Amino acid sequence: MPIATKIKNQIESSSWIRKMFEEGASLRQQFGEENVFDFTLGNPTMEPPAELHRELKKIADNPTPGMHRYMNNAGYEETRAAVAEVIAENCNQAVTAAHIVMTCGAGAALNVVLKTLLNPGDEVIILTPYFVEYKFYIDNQSGIAVEVVTKDDFQPDLEAIESAINSRTRAIIVNSPNNPTGVIYPESTLKALGALLRRKEDEYSTTILAISDEPYARISFGDAVPCIFSSIQNSIIVTSHSKDLALPGDRIGYLAANPAMNNVELFMQGTIFCNRVLGFVNAPALMQRLVTNLQRVSVDVEEYRRKRDLLYNKLTELGFEMVKPGGGFYLFPKSPIADEMEFIRIAQRYHILLVPGSGFGAPGFFRIAYCVEDAMIERSLPHWEKLALELGLAAN
Ligand SMILES: Cc1ncc(COP(=O)(O)O)c(C=O)c1O
Repeated sequence: MPIATKIKNQIESSSWIRKMFEEGASLRQQFGEENVFDFTLGNPTMEPPAELHRELKKIADNPTPGMHRYMNNAGYEETRAAVAEVIAENCNQAVTAAHIVMTCGAGAALNVVLKTLLNPGDEVIILTPYFVEYKFYIDNQSGIAVEVVTKDDFQPDLEAIESAINSRTRAIIVNSPNNPTGVIYPESTLKALGALLRRKEDEYSTTILAISDEPYARISFGDAVPCIFSSIQNSIIVTSHSKDLALPGDRIGYLAANPAMNNVELFMQGTIFCNRVLGFVNAPALMQRLVTNLQRVSVDVEEYRRKRDLLYNKLTELGFEMVKPGGGFYLFPKSPIADEMEFIRIAQRYHILLVPGSGFGAPGFFRIAYCVEDAMIERSLPHWEKLALELGLAAN
């Protein structure tokens, strides 16, 4: 059966993901699970918080008629109100249930927002390095991704963003804490971006939406991640509980519009319609009920800090160079040799599995996902040492 040429090409262009899986599986088969150090997947091994099981049991023990039926495509009013309450508090804005649509994770929320927004050929700025799926999501919804490189510390380069904006620019996606770099954008940067977008909106008589993709927002090792609504009027949060409640397989997230956004009511009608016609229909009913009372609960961030410190301290001591992440659960070091694919192949000889920076639009780097067991990190350290030694790093 022939498939669409575009999909065939997209499968090809992301074939490195499949290859990594295959290589990991083959190494595990050859050397045993214990002897392979897989840092490729942002799939937390941490279990959800205990509160989640209590809520789940409460729901299971108290079934109510109609709890498995279709609902308003935006989701349950009660769930949306609970989500809105916490955002209103964090952002100090009048966010209500009317500004929330529950979605099948942040991935669905991004597709819903982009579909609501884009006319064919409209441009969406993404900052390099970026989450792998952005380009596919933008293409799904007839848009064109425009890549803008971040600064050496992976913070947004406002001058470069300014140069990339034109009359076709409809949105910019910002992701903080960032996948793959772990950096957090300070409020001053968001405010400067807000001022820039406003200036450009005036210049072109357009509206440019800042889409804040923030599934790692509650995984910050310092102050709370600043709320985008306080800095950018035309802004929307897309997020999920995949990371903060460790529920990636359960597909529950939401989008939250800034109440001050231009034409917010029409925009919300659009997102509710798109949630329906993209075939998501609504976010899973059980998951919505489950997270309603968990809006102030998160996984233990200290566990991620410990994992970050363990790896960051050891790898920098060995001579690897990287920006110290302020949140999330990724490190994005510089490849010690120019061709990071070659570096990744060498690392595999030490049974260390990593993701090439090229996959994130940033060749010359590699990503470590450290949302893994401490024991695996500990077991991997002597192998990192040998790797550094082979590359002549440890001597530095
Ligand atoms: C930056 C970023 N955005 C979005 C997503 C998608 O998350 P979800 O599982 O909620 O769809 C991920 C998942 O890893 C991510 O890292």
